[in-house]
Amino acid sequence: MDPLTVTLTGAGGQIGYALLFRIAAGDMLGDRPVRLRLLEIPQGLRSAEGAVLELQDCAFPLLDDVELTDDPRVAFDGCQVALLVGARPRGPGMERADLLAANAGIFGPQGEALGAVAADDVRIVVVGNPANTNALVLAASAPDIPRDRITALTRLDHDRAVGQLSEALGMRAGEIDRVAVWGNHSATQFPDVTYATAAGRPVPELLAERFGGADAATRWLDDEFVPRVAKRGQEIIDVRGSSSVASAANATLQHVRDEHFGTEWTSAAVVSRGEYGVPEGLVCSFPVSSDGSGYRVIEGLPLDERARERLDRSVAELMTERDAVAAWGVV
Ligand code: NAI
Repeated sequence: MDPLTVTLTGAGGQIGYALLFRIAAGDMLGDRPVRLRLLEIPQGLRSAEGAVLELQDCAFPLLDDVELTDDPRVAFDGCQVALLVGARPRGPGMERADLLAANAGIFGPQGEALGAVAADDVRIVVVGNPANTNALVLAASAPDIPRDRITALTRLDHDRAVGQLSEALGMRAGEIDRVAVWGNHSATQFPDVTYATAAGRPVPELLAERFGGADAATRWLDDEFVPRVAKRGQEIIDVRGSSSVASAANATLQHVRDEHFGTEWTSAAVVSRGEYGVPEGLVCSFPVSSDGSGYRVIEGLPLDERARERLDRSVAELMTERDAVAAWGVV
């Protein structure tokens, strides 16, 4: 089998370190050999160099080749899977608009480089935050890359929602299907269990049994489940003293794996074509499926008033973010 060229940005960072060894071990693409291209900024090269030495020491049978560079054109040359993890974190005193602009300054040029030198079949997932709007900037900078090849990661939110349901219902995560995450990868996201099933039974029914009625279940969803999933990143920081790393890396692998090998249902942020009234071009999380050729929004699901209102709130935030980067002349 020909190796697949995988480019990882931010390879010297925490998530990069958690991802590299699992990619090379075959956790993302099965037994397909991989050629790794690692992109870092000059300050991050030394740390990434250390990871490259360790990769060598693992002697992974599937690892074809590794190259580390600080030049996006070299890193994205022939790229088939792009994992865009490297981003500018929020510094002290930095406003959200400054953060958006700083990251637009990264994802704009990376989009241009991908458009110029990546393989025709490239698939891109943006992990670095603010992920949805970074992906929007990237898409605007790479007009020749088909929109359905550009996604942003909300799989971690999806998996967090499954994890919370698993605990509440006392069932294995593997028994839970059809959870949906709508909107932005931020505190406004809407993790939705309306269509979810656990061991084949509707989750809303199981929650009503667990909490003693449908109203009590809705209260649990509104007061505990939704905020806990949406603010889980902060909870991890408070408890662990550092942001989510292994779970973010795991979600990234599952996102690519399911897109590549196919899935009937997961959540991902994709470029909207107007589905569910989300303005075209916004990068918004939806329930999606893949037949192996890329994520498609699962259409036709009924949205009740509560869901509509929450989705609209998150979409309004995405529009504000889009306007902020538009003000900087990048989209
Ligand atoms: P980190 O700070 O440990 O690593 C980031 C790395 O990116 C650093 O080594 C830095 O040098 C590098 N970098 C910065 N600008 C770059 C550029 N222009 N090109 C290439 N590399 C560049 O951060 P960590 O913990 O690895 O997180 C990475 C990103 O992932 C953050 O933006 C974080 O907020 C985001 N994240 C997203 C999640 C999601 O669900 N979408 C979940 C968790 C984290």
